[in-house]
Amino acid sequence: MASEEKLTVAGLNILSPKRNKRLQSGWEGFFPYYAGYPELFARELLRSAQLPDDAVVLDPWNGSGTTTYAANQLGLNSIGIDLNPVMIIVARARLLAPSEADHLRPLAANIMWHAHASPTTLADDDALLDWYNPATARFIRGIEQNIRRSLLGSMTRSPDGINLDRISGTAATMYVALFAACRRLAAPFRSSNPTWLRMPKSDADRIDAPQTLIARYFADNVGGLSDALVAQQDDLLRNGRRQPSQSEIALSNTTTMDFAAHSIDFVLTSPPYCTRIDYTAATRIELAVLSPLLKTTARSLGKQMIGSTQVPNDRIQVDPAWGATCVNFLEALKKHPSKASSGYYYRTHLDYFDKMSRSLARVSRALKPGARAIFVVQDSHYKELHNDLPTIITELCDSHGLRFEGRQNFRFRSMSDINPGRKSYQRPAGATETVLCFAKDVASALGPRFADRR
Ligand SMILES: C[S@@+](CC[C@H](N)C(=O)[O-])C[C@H]1O[C@@H](n2cnc3c(N)ncnc32)[C@H](O)[C@@H]1O
Repeated sequence: MASEEKLTVAGLNILSPKRNKRLQSGWEGFFPYYAGYPELFARELLRSAQLPDDAVVLDPWNGSGTTTYAANQLGLNSIGIDLNPVMIIVARARLLAPSEADHLRPLAANIMWHAHASPTTLADDDALLDWYNPATARFIRGIEQNIRRSLLGSMTRSPDGINLDRISGTAATMYVALFAACRRLAAPFRSSNPTWLRMPKSDADRIDAPQTLIARYFADNVGGLSDALVAQQDDLLRNGRRQPSQSEIALSNTTTMDFAAHSIDFVLTSPPYCTRIDYTAATRIELAVLSPLLKTTARSLGKQMIGSTQVPNDRIQVDPAWGATCVNFLEALKKHPSKASSGYYYRTHLDYFDKMSRSLARVSRALKPGARAIFVVQDSHYKELHNDLPTIITELCDSHGLRFEGRQNFRFRSMSDINPGRKSYQRPAGATETVLCFAKDVASALGPRFADRR
């Protein structure tokens, strides 16, 4: 299906949610998040929702901030949540006002000057040393330390550490430029799996880059981000003034987040996939850059993620409220004869559905009666078993008071097509990305007493 073909579901314009390299120009090219949907998809969909001026749009799994950026472009208030600090920084940088474009280059030059003039001492266990040799890691850390010293002040610092969700758009932009420079230097360690960066086999294989090259990559990225902001400003002038809006980007866990009931007018999101993607592993280099600022380890962060590859501590029980499709899939997975199906894989899938159900209960509670929620969901296979996540999410939503309004499927080549293990099991090539539309049930919004009478 052509990505520009426009379809309508429940009165909303739906373009293909599949990432398209051609559309990754400007800002989107700097942090091409493999798990993200295109900005055009989010913007068209939000525009067609015809929300009132004071509406609040929520993305509980905001990733690189496509929803919050698109809402901001349309003059809508928005809240974006993510558990990964890297994605908080990326989403904040994306909201930097075009009026800040001119000071980015001189600021980067100043940061570089200090990094050259006063070399940093590097801790023996600095996470950057996993990929870079000591001289390279020391210079990268020097740039990071100068961003921290010059741009993180009392607004972001607190006695228990740095609050990354209060970081300024300018500081976030400097970090994104450094992330992209580090990724470019680590290009030899890329693999066919876009979420996986290999580690050097020995210390001698670590990346050895001259300071001039690191400085050039960083400066080029800052220049490119500044140019993208100028282009954005031109676009805004062409399309007329938008009304001012507020965007909040918060570091939080959807299984425990606490929103005021009935405070959200629209949800647009793509929940974490159930394809054993480790979302923290996909941002290992960026987490290494941020390590001095983190309040948690990458491992403990990975454990909290929906879709975690780590076995949960708790004994989770199947809940019939997850729906027949989910319960049957889990039963078949548990009985599967292949190694570790009834152990590791069963437990990590239980963890996924348990976290997803708890999160959806909170998303539903936050929605106003009648408000709509759009989820972009991908199906997958466990061996030959079909994990029909779109149907599972539909049944889960139903149990949390979100009424199904319609869906649109998009077929595409998936990552498992390049996995040689696929051939041993009977299953179709590719995967389906589905756009699911729901509305908050008015009866369930009034409370369980009224919902029972449906
Ligand atoms: C499919 S991605 C969203 C991509 C986004 N639509 C975009 O355009 O970039 C899902 C996101 O959920 C986040 N996530 C996973 N578990 C979470 C949790 N428990 N609480 C909040 N965010 C979580 C991941 O870090 C990831 O960025």
